[in-house]
Formats: sequence, C-alpha cells, structure tokens
Amino acid sequence: MKMIVALLLLLALSNAVKINGEESDGQCDHKLTLDPRPHSVSILEFGAVGDGKTLNTIAFRNAIFYLKSFADKGGAQLYVPPGRWLTGSFNLTSHLTLFLEKGAVILGSQDPSHWEVADPLPSYGRGIDLPGGRYRSLINGYMLQDVVITGDNGTIDGQGSVWWDWYSYHSLNYSRPHLVEFVSSENVVVSNLTFLNAPAYCIHPVYCSNVQVQNVSVSAPTKSPYTVGIVPDSSDNVCIEDCVIDMGYDAIALKSGWDEYGIAYGRPTTNVHIRRVHLKSYSGSSLAFGSEMSGGISNVLVEQAHIYNSLSGIEFRTRKGRGGYIKRIIISDVVMESVYVAFAATGQCGSHPDDKYDPNALPLLDHITLQDVIGTNITIAGSFTGIQESPFTSICLFNVSLSITSGSPTSWVCSNVSGFAESVFPEPCPDLESSYSNSSLACFSLMHLNGKAAAL
Ligand SMILES: *[C@@H]1O[C@H](CO)[C@@H](O)[C@H](O)[C@H]1NC(C)=O
Ligand SMILES: *[C@@H]1O[C@H](CO)[C@@H](O)[C@H](O)[C@H]1NC(C)=O
Ligand SMILES: *[C@@H]1O[C@H](CO)[C@@H](O)[C@H](O)[C@H]1NC(C)=O
Ligand SMILES: *[C@@H]1O[C@H](CO)[C@@H](O)[C@H](O)[C@H]1NC(C)=O
Ligand SMILES: *[C@@H]1O[C@H](CO)[C@@H](O)[C@H](O)[C@H]1NC(C)=O
Ligand SMILES: *[C@@H]1O[C@H](CO)[C@@H](O)[C@H](O)[C@H]1NC(C)=O
Ligand SMILES: *[C@@H]1O[C@H](CO)[C@@H](O)[C@H](O)[C@H]1NC(C)=O
Ligand SMILES: *[C@@H]1O[C@H](CO)[C@@H](O)[C@H](O)[C@H]1NC(C)=O
Ligand SMILES: *[C@@H]1O[C@H](CO)[C@@H](O)[C@H](O)[C@H]1NC(C)=O
Repeated sequence: MKMIVALLLLLALSNAVKINGEESDGQCDHKLTLDPRPHSVSILEFGAVGDGKTLNTIAFRNAIFYLKSFADKGGAQLYVPPGRWLTGSFNLTSHLTLFLEKGAVILGSQDPSHWEVADPLPSYGRGIDLPGGRYRSLINGYMLQDVVITGDNGTIDGQGSVWWDWYSYHSLNYSRPHLVEFVSSENVVVSNLTFLNAPAYCIHPVYCSNVQVQNVSVSAPTKSPYTVGIVPDSSDNVCIEDCVIDMGYDAIALKSGWDEYGIAYGRPTTNVHIRRVHLKSYSGSSLAFGSEMSGGISNVLVEQAHIYNSLSGIEFRTRKGRGGYIKRIIISDVVMESVYVAFAATGQCGSHPDDKYDPNALPLLDHITLQDVIGTNITIAGSFTGIQESPFTSICLFNVSLSITSGSPTSWVCSNVSGFAESVFPEPCPDLESSYSNSSLACFSLMHLNGKAAAL
C-alpha cells in the first residue's frame, strides 16, 4: 500500500530533467550518476590559504569567474583541499561542482563587511529579521543551471555565533545571511557534506526547480535563535533524503512567501519528497509547514522520518492575512521519541511583514494525512486550532500510537478543525472522528492520487 502511494505520487509528480548530463526525474527515486566534470581546478591555484585566518573571498570569486568559461565545455569542478578556508560571501556559476575534500572546511567570516547586502526577496517584501535588505548568503546561486555542492564529508561552517548574538541583542543592521542559497535556479544537488552553525537558514532553495539534497548532516546549537536546517521555499520538484538535521528552531521548513508579497508573487512549493531523515529541533518543529505559505504548499510526501528530542514534531502554521494553502500532504512511517507536541496545526502563528496585509486573505489547510506513526514520551498528542472563518478540513490520522507521559495536561486540543481518525491512540477529539463516516471520501490518499495520475 505504501509503495503504491509513493509510486503513484512519483508518477503524478514526475518531470524529467537533466542534471550533469544525465536524465533524472527530480524526485528521490531516480539515482543520479554524477559524471566527473571534464575540467577541475584547485582553490590553491587562485592563491587561497587554508590557515583559518587568511580571507579567501577574492580567491573563491576569481576561481569561479575563471570556471565560468567552461560552462559550455561540460562544466568544471572547483576543488577545495583539506584546510580551513575563511571567506566572505561568493556566487557560484552554472555547470559547476564545488567539491570539498575530507578535512576541507569552508568558514564564514564573522566580519559583516565581508558579506554583500542584497534586496529582500520579492515574495517576502523585507528581510526575515528586520524590514529592509538582507545579507547575501555565504554561498549563492542566482539563475543557475546544473550546480553541485558535494564532497567527501567536507564541512561548511557559517560560524554563526556572532550573528546569533547580534540578533539577540537587536544590533543587526540587515537580516541575517543564510549559509547556502539558490535563487531561481534549476537542477541543483547538495550532497555528502556537513553543514554547521548557519547564521539563519542553512540550505535555502527559493524559486527553484529540481533540487536534491542527499546525505548531508546539518546542525546548529540548541540555543541558536531561529536557525533552520533546510528550507524549500517557492520551489518545486525537491527531494530531501538520508539527512541528519539538528537545529535551534526548525529542522526542515517548507515555505512560500509572506502575506501580500507572497500572494502577489504566487509561486507555490510543490512536489516535494522527503524520506529517511533524522530530525531534531530545540525550540521549533522538526518538520514545519509555514508559517510563510502565501504562495501555497501542496503535493508533499514524507516517509521514514525519525523525530526526536523536539519541542514539536510535525507542525502546520498559518494565520489570517497569509492567503495561500497547505494541502495534499501525506506523512507516513514516522517514529517520534521525546517530543513535547507530536502534531500541531495552528491558524494563529507568526507575524505580518508590515501593516499592508489583507486581514481577509484567509489561508486554507486541507487534505493532510498523517499515518503509521509511533511515538514514545510524548506530552501532547495533537493540537489543532483552526481559523473560524476558514476551518482546517480533511485532517486524517490513521494508525497512530503515541505513549503519553504521565502528567500531560491534555492529549488533544481541537477547534475549528474537522477530519477523520482510525486506529489512533490515545483517542482523538471528536472533531477528528465524527465529521465523516467514510474516510476514503474525506482523506487525501491513494484515490486522489489515482485521480491525478489518471488525468495526466
Ligand atoms: C552575486 O550575484 C548577485 C546576483 O546576480 C549580484 O548582484 C552580485 O553583484 C554578485 N556578487 C559578486 C561578488 O559577483
Ligand atoms: C554519505 O556521505 C559520506 C561522506 O560524507 C560518504 O562516506 C557516504 O558514503 C555517503 N553515503 C551515501 C549513501 O551516499
Ligand atoms: C563528517 O564530518 C563531521 C564533522 O567533521 C563528523 O562529525 C562526522 O562524523 C563525519 N561523518 C562521516 C560519515 O565521516
Ligand atoms: C551596524 O551599523 C553601525 C553603524 O554603521 C555599526 O557601528 C555596527 O557595527 C553595525 N552592526 C553590525 C552588526 O554590523
Ligand atoms: C556520495 O558519496 C558516495 C561515496 O563516495 C558516492 O557513492 C555517491 O555517489 C555520492 N553521492 C552524491 C549524490 O554525490
Ligand atoms: C521525555 O521528553 C521530554 C521532552 O518533551 C524530555 O525533557 C525528557 O527528558 C524525556 N524523558 C525521557 C525519559 O526520555
Ligand atoms: C501501523 O504503523 C506501524 C508503524 O508505526 C506499521 O509497522 C504497521 O504495519 C502499521 N499497520 C498497518 C495496519 O498499516
Ligand atoms: C473557532 O475559533 C474561535 C477563535 O478563533 C473560537 O472563538 C471558536 O470557539 C472556535 N470555534 C469552535 C467551533 O471551536
Ligand atoms: C466508502 O466510499 C466508497 C467510495 O464511494 C464506497 O465504495 C464504500 O462502499 C463506502 N464505504 C462505506 C463504509 O460507506
């Protein structure tokens, strides 16, 4: 049954693309063969010094400028040997592989003057921390094709502690930078690396298609404020698999723009497949949807997730003014350990970018299926608080078994929500049980996917 669901979703989502010369379908089930690039240069050839102190921004920028000329000759690799390579922000180019050897560490400079400042993203209208601009990410891709960031477990370390302090003491001049960001790019692979200490988000594909994040380890300290691991944002055909993510705030957060800016930009996050992930979040959620979701989030399949030591396990966030939707989501085969709230869906979350939002722009939360979940040491099983003018609908729980800690204030909280539950322990609130007598009509499942696949 699970196999068939996955298969049909993949069929429904499939979209053949070329990555590094090979046909692939932008989903998790097609294994990529990454051909070696015909040309490779070492960052040493551009005068870089790997002592952890010398600033290498110019070396990275010059190397990539040089490698641009190989774009129409099969592309090129920039090789980073063992060492500690301090740098400010730099841009990648198309048909490029950035390869970090074992023992290679790219270190983000802690001097803000080494980071470029950029305009806000159009779907946000302002920076995430502050109105106005934002620092460009340490490693950037803008309107690129066929880019790979990989290695033999090399490390990209944002050295974010200074940014967390400036954020906490309100002394930032612009919103914090991310570690790796791709904007309006296609056919992107990030794999086989360790990412540490992002100033804000770690891996942020925005307005992208065909993005694969595989076999990476991403972490930041528990107390780092609002650090997020992987953030697919207004992007489609995204695969995240075999990743270990441990963050201060959210581990994986799917987003699609903020209130009136996200509505106007209108680019959804859709066709996302996440599997075999280990997720931990200290003050947020291991798997989050929103709260910025104004461009819509749909067709997401999550399988084989291990969620542990987290404040919230799986959380859907929105509020009035967002518009947009979160719909057609299946999350199955989840093991949770020591999670305070296993599932949450809230219509009262997050702030507005400014006071120009439309309070009548009501978001939709519909057709969410959570199945085959087992949890231990859970405090609250589920908290679903919808919006009165736009209640959450077709929230379906199947085969969920959570062992609740003694002393839990309550197992379920429900308001302005309807859905279906079958084989769920502890017994959920009546809102999730009584509204439908026939789950196959009410719930996002095989039947709906079947319909879509048949229509293709
Ligand atoms: C990086 O790319 C952005 C977007 O194209 C551009 O505005 C910026 O000048 C580039 N920075 C460098 C150092 O090339
Ligand atoms: C994951 O990456 C590590 C290096 O970081 C590598 O040794 C290992 O073989 C990779 N595993 C897979 C399944 O690609
Ligand atoms: C990868 O590197 C990180 C940090 O250097 C290390 O903690 C981890 O054990 C390494 N993983 C593998 C698979 O070698
Ligand atoms: C912000 O700008 C002020 C004035 O230019 C400067 O003194 C301060 O160091 C800046 N703060 C940061 C974190 O860059
Ligand atoms: C990751 O590393 C493993 C082991 O070297 C290699 O087989 C695999 O192709 C790499 N995967 C990606 C996507 O780079
Ligand atoms: C149970 O989970 C809570 C977090 O919700 C954690 O603080 C506590 O240590 C866990 N207890 C055990 C026995 O793992
Ligand atoms: C219920 O979920 C568990 C995993 O949590 C799985 O092993 C079991 O097969 C599922 N049962 C049914 C009837 O699908
Ligand atoms: C819906 O939510 C509102 C608050 O937003 C609350 O006052 C109301 O009682 C809720 N309705 C139901 C049926 O729970
Ligand atoms: C549920 O709906 C399906 C499809 O319309 C129908 O075939 C089935 O008999 C219904 N089951 C029940 C128990 O009503």
